[in-house]
Amino acid sequence: MNLTNNRQAILDQITKDVKEHQCSLRAGCIQSVPGEGSPKSALVFVGEAPGRYEDAQGRPFVGPAGKLLDKLLLSIGFKREDVYITNIVKCRPPDNRDPKPDEVAEHADFLRRELELIKPKLIVLLGRHALAKFLPDEKISNCHGKAKRKANQVYFALYHPAAALHNPNFLQILEDDIKKIPILLKKIDELPLQAKTDKQTKPPEKIVQETLL
Ligand code: URA
Repeated sequence: MNLTNNRQAILDQITKDVKEHQCSLRAGCIQSVPGEGSPKSALVFVGEAPGRYEDAQGRPFVGPAGKLLDKLLLSIGFKREDVYITNIVKCRPPDNRDPKPDEVAEHADFLRRELELIKPKLIVLLGRHALAKFLPDEKISNCHGKAKRKANQVYFALYHPAAALHNPNFLQILEDDIKKIPILLKKIDELPLQAKTDKQTKPPEKIVQETLL
């Protein structure tokens, strides 16, 4: 089996596991919603949790927020199938309430497996819940549109498309921020791996964050 087929086979297994899993949210939703897209993508978009439309179709970001995301992706030259789109929680919370920390924890292994397989150049965090999962000390109002590197992974936070649908100011910011992604992808290619001296001079538990954009 070649590398591409192997990657797809591993992703298919993760998808199957997401579809078959039982969690505390499963009884209240129609179906779980696995991530979808290219397992070779340099870009992974991480949202919060499925909403009504995603729950009905079993696919991430297919409602109004998803349509906006598709449009934003096209504005920077990507089709939806070129990237990988997923959520921190794979099952719809009742009435679209915020996912609880234990629900995020229940689904964490799926996200870990997706990211370990894809090894994206850039993880795009859509909204404050995805941000809190990866960069818990940051605030979305402060760090949207800026890239942060933590342990050799680069993250880029954006306002959630659903928030932008409700607030024209956020929409303008989101449209401006997303345009930085192609520039950032080029910059990442030029970036050396985190200097060894970081590890030598800082305590190992300390997170090294660095603003790139
Ligand atoms: N909002 C999210 O965070 N994820 C989806 O899949 C849809 C809407």
